[in-house]
Amino acid sequence: MNLDIDIEKKVEKLLKKMTLEEKIGQMNQYNGSWDVTGPAPDGNNREKYDQLKSGMVGSMLNVVGANAVREAQKLAVENSRLGIPLIFGYDVIHGFQTIFPVPLGESASWDLEAIELSAKVAAKESSASGISWTFAPMVDINRDARWGRVMEGAGEDPYLGSKIAVARVNGFQGNDLSDGESIAACAKHFAAYGFAESGRDYNTADVGEHTLRNVILPPFKACIDAGVATVMNAFNEIGGIPATGNKYLQRDILKEEWGFDGFVISDWGSIGEMIAHGYSKDCMQASEQAVNAGSDMDMESYCYINSLKQLVEEGKVEESTIDDAVRRILRVKYKLGLFENPYLYCDLEREKTDVYSKENLEIARDVARKSIVLLKNEMDILPLKKSGKKIAVIGPLGNHKDAPLGSWRAKAIENSAVSLLEGIKNKVGEDVEVKYAQGCGLSQGKRNFLFEVDLIEEDKSGFAEAKKLAVESDVVIMALGEDCWQTGEGRSQTEIGLPGSQMDLLKEIHKINKNIVIVLMNGRPLTLNWEEENVPAIVETWQLGSEAGNAIADVLFGDYNPSGKLPVSFPRAVGQLPLYYNYKNTGRPDKHPEGMVFWSHFTDEENTPLYPFGYGLSYSKFDYSKPTISSNNMSMNGSVKISVEVSNKGAVDGAEVVQLYIRDLIGTITRPVKELKGFEKVQIKAGETKTVSFELKQEDLAFYGADGTFKAEEGDFEVFVGGNSRDVQKMTFSLK
Ligand code: GLC
Repeated sequence: MNLDIDIEKKVEKLLKKMTLEEKIGQMNQYNGSWDVTGPAPDGNNREKYDQLKSGMVGSMLNVVGANAVREAQKLAVENSRLGIPLIFGYDVIHGFQTIFPVPLGESASWDLEAIELSAKVAAKESSASGISWTFAPMVDINRDARWGRVMEGAGEDPYLGSKIAVARVNGFQGNDLSDGESIAACAKHFAAYGFAESGRDYNTADVGEHTLRNVILPPFKACIDAGVATVMNAFNEIGGIPATGNKYLQRDILKEEWGFDGFVISDWGSIGEMIAHGYSKDCMQASEQAVNAGSDMDMESYCYINSLKQLVEEGKVEESTIDDAVRRILRVKYKLGLFENPYLYCDLEREKTDVYSKENLEIARDVARKSIVLLKNEMDILPLKKSGKKIAVIGPLGNHKDAPLGSWRAKAIENSAVSLLEGIKNKVGEDVEVKYAQGCGLSQGKRNFLFEVDLIEEDKSGFAEAKKLAVESDVVIMALGEDCWQTGEGRSQTEIGLPGSQMDLLKEIHKINKNIVIVLMNGRPLTLNWEEENVPAIVETWQLGSEAGNAIADVLFGDYNPSGKLPVSFPRAVGQLPLYYNYKNTGRPDKHPEGMVFWSHFTDEENTPLYPFGYGLSYSKFDYSKPTISSNNMSMNGSVKISVEVSNKGAVDGAEVVQLYIRDLIGTITRPVKELKGFEKVQIKAGETKTVSFELKQEDLAFYGADGTFKAEEGDFEVFVGGNSRDVQKMTFSLK
């Protein structure tokens, strides 16, 4: 903990002046569900309004806009006894008003600079609109695409997830939290939220210590080491104890072992939800358990504000525990410069110039391009020519201007995305005929964050028009996938294929015109077996945000050579889930020699993914030399260097993500068959060859073993190099 002494002195001085009620007020966060710029509200919001004025609120969420935040801030600062400023939080997950690719899509860029810049732009925009704290990055490792929030994280791997988490924290927080354009970040959801059984949101997570330590916690630890200002806990229980009341997680590991000096915010109502969990009998007990377990601020459960005083008076909660929580909260507020200037983030002028600017949109387009993954390109059907073609765009996402904005869209303007159709028309010359037919429906009704998405399951009314267009076209671009409200919070699904009539539409078009390019827009991995089998080109574009159509057109017409790689495995069937590349070998990994069934497999599907973790094609052709290793023996304080030459045999310059994996063959606990331990995204010109090298030290081989300590264990290792987790070359070395 490298604390700022000056800030610590100010915190202590203020803490001494505070009454117990005022301290508890800092631990209380409300949702701003009324127009704070209007007259005093009535009803439930009236109590919140009055508590704002009496210093009984420490933070608000969902109050956005320089003017609104200024008004709410004034209520607290100008009326409460000590004038302690509020911290305003908001879900700035993948952009504020300039919308970037959903985090899973952005993770497919494997471009840490681009990811950091994306967060930096989001911070610049939101900090101009009153926001000084984002509830991001979400760093939950997930292996089950049924879970709707898979779109919000960085996929299945702790190493890639950790690197991306740090890039996002650095982008949001910058070098100086008080510079007025940076915002406090929040690593969430602590912990194991992505391991909900069956991928059903909020469901039980039951993971062992080794999975917790070696898979789930590394991205959080990376955020703490990068100086993340806050952590948000999780709705789920872990092994019988809700995360919100989990002392082992929040105090023993996060605050003691890791030395975290920021504060823990509960997730929405999660303190009160410990009653439903069957862990607390009432709000009083829930508050006692949560605050003693290290939950510092209560988001919208009203438990703390109504219970903590009595708990302290009854001796069930030490006032020193309250002081610790308030110290952490005040520390972050001082770091953000809120005491010096409570209106630092309420700059009406900056709000006009820095939000949704042309410059930011250009950055969003570049990040979007880099996030696109080329899954298939038979006969080099791509890139398409910009002239002399009759192009059909068919499918419910072809002219959609809202779905590409994704879920968790902050202040995105509804229907503001550049659609695929618009992007293509912006790209091609006058002599190219581009026509659109929807073919079938996608969803209808209340398309928003709160309510179930109303998918249009059976709709073939547009088939005839689409088929007619396909007949007269040289190439058909099929825009297929999910509505953005099929992923995100509360959006788990039991099926992950193309929804509604899209597959029927695709098959009907395929009967007429085989020259098809599928452009996928989706928030989770989908099952794409028939598509892979029958369609020459497939492009994974996720939900790319404001500039989606332009970014996709850049790739389709070759102005950008696709460089993305999957951060998640794409299954062949939903029944394979959870599915991930860094699996354990089991005692029966291989097909039975006599053809018997007694080995770890499904009788109706392969074990392998359709598209593996780390997979992505290019318009270039990258050839790998036989890799070299500096030695086949490595001492504990030594290292081995692995090098490989990558040649671009294609006709166009491109970027390749060269990946390094290891396998620890024997351990005091079983080890995964592969673990990503390095990657480098290299630009290689056509005809050029580049050497890429990685150095492995014992800390790269370390893990939490049977005795619970973090160290490398002597023994034999395999090391793999390649352009994805499947197509690799293997070498070996021994650690002695
Ligand atoms: C939600 C989410 C959390 C979000 C919070 C505030 O329920 O779980 O990620 O930051 O509430 O919107």
